[in-house]
Amino acid sequence: MPTETTPLITTVQVGVVPRRYPHQTVRRFCSIALSCSLLAVIATFLWTVAFNPHSHPHHQSHLTFEELQAILLETPSGEKAGEWSQYYTSGPHLAGKNLSQAEWTRDRWNEWGIKSEVVAYETYINYPVDHRIALLEKSKSKGTETWNVAFEATLEEDVLEEDPTTALEDRVPVFHGYSASGNVTAQYVYVNYGTYQDFEDLVKANISLEGKIALARYGGIFRGLKVKRAQELGMIGTVIFTDPGDDGEITDENGYKTYPDGPARNPSSVQRGSVQFLSIAPGDPTTIGYPSKPGVPRQPVDGKIPSIPSLPISYAEAIPILKSLNGHGPKSTEFNKYWTRNQGLEYKGVEYNIGPSPEGVVLNLYNEQEYTITPMWDVIGIINGTIPDEVIVVGNHRDAWIAGGAGDPNSGSAVINEAIRSFGKALEAGWKPLRTIVFASWDGEEYGLVGSTEWVEEYLPWLSVANVAYINVDVGVRSPVFSASAAPMLNKLIYDVTAIVPSPNQTIPGQSVRDVWDGHISTMGSGSDFTAFQDFAGIPSLDMGFGGQSKDSPVYQYHSNYDSYHWMSEFGDPGFVYHRTMAQILALATAKISETPLVSLNATDYATALKGYVTQVEEKLASLDSDAEPTTETEIAEFRARAVGAAVKGDPAAFKFSLEKLHASVAKFREAAIELDAKSASLSEKANEHIPWWKWITKLKLLHAIRSTNTKYKKIERAFLYEGGLDGRSWFRHVVFAPGVWTGYAGAVFPGLVESIDNKDFVNALKWADIIDVCIRTATKTVQ
Ligand SMILES: *[C@@H]1O[C@H](CO)[C@@H](O)[C@H](O)[C@H]1NC(C)=O
Ligand SMILES: *[C@@H]1O[C@H](CO)[C@@H](O)[C@H](O)[C@H]1NC(C)=O
Ligand SMILES: *[C@@H]1O[C@H](CO)[C@@H](O)[C@H](O)[C@H]1NC(C)=O
Ligand SMILES: *[C@@H]1O[C@H](CO)[C@@H](O)[C@H](O)[C@H]1NC(C)=O
Ligand SMILES: *[C@@H]1O[C@H](CO)[C@@H](O)[C@H](O)[C@H]1NC(C)=O
Ligand SMILES: *[C@@H]1O[C@H](CO)[C@@H](O)[C@H](O)[C@H]1NC(C)=O
Repeated sequence: MPTETTPLITTVQVGVVPRRYPHQTVRRFCSIALSCSLLAVIATFLWTVAFNPHSHPHHQSHLTFEELQAILLETPSGEKAGEWSQYYTSGPHLAGKNLSQAEWTRDRWNEWGIKSEVVAYETYINYPVDHRIALLEKSKSKGTETWNVAFEATLEEDVLEEDPTTALEDRVPVFHGYSASGNVTAQYVYVNYGTYQDFEDLVKANISLEGKIALARYGGIFRGLKVKRAQELGMIGTVIFTDPGDDGEITDENGYKTYPDGPARNPSSVQRGSVQFLSIAPGDPTTIGYPSKPGVPRQPVDGKIPSIPSLPISYAEAIPILKSLNGHGPKSTEFNKYWTRNQGLEYKGVEYNIGPSPEGVVLNLYNEQEYTITPMWDVIGIINGTIPDEVIVVGNHRDAWIAGGAGDPNSGSAVINEAIRSFGKALEAGWKPLRTIVFASWDGEEYGLVGSTEWVEEYLPWLSVANVAYINVDVGVRSPVFSASAAPMLNKLIYDVTAIVPSPNQTIPGQSVRDVWDGHISTMGSGSDFTAFQDFAGIPSLDMGFGGQSKDSPVYQYHSNYDSYHWMSEFGDPGFVYHRTMAQILALATAKISETPLVSLNATDYATALKGYVTQVEEKLASLDSDAEPTTETEIAEFRARAVGAAVKGDPAAFKFSLEKLHASVAKFREAAIELDAKSASLSEKANEHIPWWKWITKLKLLHAIRSTNTKYKKIERAFLYEGGLDGRSWFRHVVFAPGVWTGYAGAVFPGLVESIDNKDFVNALKWADIIDVCIRTATKTVQ
């Protein structure tokens, strides 16, 4: 990567002056206040006002927390959510293409009483111009060779009478975000999922890849990384198809009707999507690490987005291309079991040969993209809290690959709107928020988390000082299965809130969302707008929604024209009842972390998680030679995405010893964390007691203790940032959480250690053990 010009923050933020507060520069005041004890006393006074109504009747919050909670539970409506869903999905809203949707969103938020504005960034981005995928066959007659078109893909999804979104004149063509323009004609090779190990298997089998086109199936890893590895191995183009074998039980092959007649995938459904090298750096690839404001210097994009063309294709149109490989090259059964999983097109006559296609059978892949620098529009709404330097950010992206996007992302947009409308009602009823809440409707998430990344890069100094947590909702609803990933300090918040919100599933009367949910919380990877908050700014983040998959839920036709309002109303969430529930969860989670005197972060849970992560690293080290068999889809993806080095560098035993040191540091952190949580619990109790006005010194002391405790919580996650960044991807600075280098979505824990072990580089592993040790010690000092 080119060197970064960004001013990097240090792990200790006290005294840093924020560059600018979103609405005005006045807020510079806040950060200085942090380091100035006099102002801290003033802030303490604000606290008095904020949560002890008994002594200051004029400034009291007219609502108790219970009353606020009641409003946030009562206000969200399925009907309204359906209305917002219909609005957002009625026209195309590709990143940077629909200012009126941003303005509409801003206007609604303002109407509901949340002061909002549109914030623009000038970003480097591509739009589709033209495309072609054709199968060409050579024929010889009378000594002359001619190339005939054996199959010309339409690259169009079927227009369905039942679903008006699919018939829009201005629907978005199938293409890949940040893909390279090019026109290549060559033999092609089936590369399975295109994971690192899939390509290794091909190399080992001496399949010639150079100069060929890769035919990869979707799934397992982030699509851009399939293109990345193909490019690195000298391939000249990539076609990525959807294999219905990955749809589980609900397939045409198993007798399910396809959309719109049933829950199975429509055969013409195409997955659009970004092919940015997401695990290297998200955001505008020309301004890595700093905001894309007009006139800023721009860096070359090499190594961040592909240089070879790529296009997506439906399974219906992939069939003839796959069948032309029948009988050519090894069959996937001659490879290993990872090549024969989920093969869903055998019933259509596909034999899954690897190829290459014979010399006389080639693909023409033509992809023309227009690259431009154009504005993207985030909408930012703010509710001022009483405490200026404790801030919660809540976000959802608005842009979609298609005119629809009823699941991704506009179920989330409908949900955040309902949450905001509910907070508006609370403000009307006299609620005075304790902490500041910032709502964001991001643009450009789909291309590479662009709108959120640029915003975080712009406000980094302020966020570093003030941001307590970031809450993300991307796909708010696409099934009845709740799912979440989070920084461990926020686990408890998710459990607490889901236990309060009733589930729309009342099979057992009275059951809550928590009762129906298996309670699994994943680690933070990437693939949505929390990335810049968690991995770049060190802000504890969570991401949630009814986005899980169950065996019998209808197939979600991700990034296709069939992620439409019609699909959502008929299959995804009839009646928009889960939309309502998700809005309740989002609003309550926001309220809980913004309103309780002690911030709802749990340090013990972080310590427990860290201990588990060190153990995971030990297990990985122990199984280095045995290669334990992965079982779950995620494990398989991670296992197959490993870039395994050949020669051992350094001393594994020394590294093993350093892990013991990490365990010791984590244990110390744990002691301090338990103490901090205990203190928080006791302060929390005291904060609820009535203190008579004449005991004002006692009260001031209490408030000071609360404030300093909250500040400690706020700083814990920051301690895990390493200025130098991860190996080969310095934008990623969190030493505990990052997307896997070759998975892109899935969260890797202790990426520095895990990658070093994969590479068998124990010199580097030791380096990372030291870096992580320093971070843990810093965190311990922070909370003591
Ligand atoms: C923007 O979105 C709205 C609402 O979905 C839609 O009506 C309009 O046609 C879109 N505008 C453009 C320029 O695509
Ligand atoms: C793409 O390349 C092929 C052969 O190299 C050529 O026949 C065709 O016209 C090209 N297509 C475009 C749109 O340039
Ligand atoms: C690999 O394939 C090339 C031709 O593509 C051939 O020259 C070479 O001998 C093969 N190597 C092995 C080990 O099979
Ligand atoms: C929030 O506070 C700032 C000043 O600190 C002020 O300019 C802004 O108008 C306030 N917003 C609302 C909605 O009160
Ligand atoms: C509904 O709740 C019941 C009882 O908890 C559970 O067994 C079932 O899986 C749930 N169904 C869905 C679709 O969530
Ligand atoms: C923090 O989590 C621990 C372990 O999960 C729990 O025992 C403790 O009560 C929690 N403390 C707070 C303040 O939430």
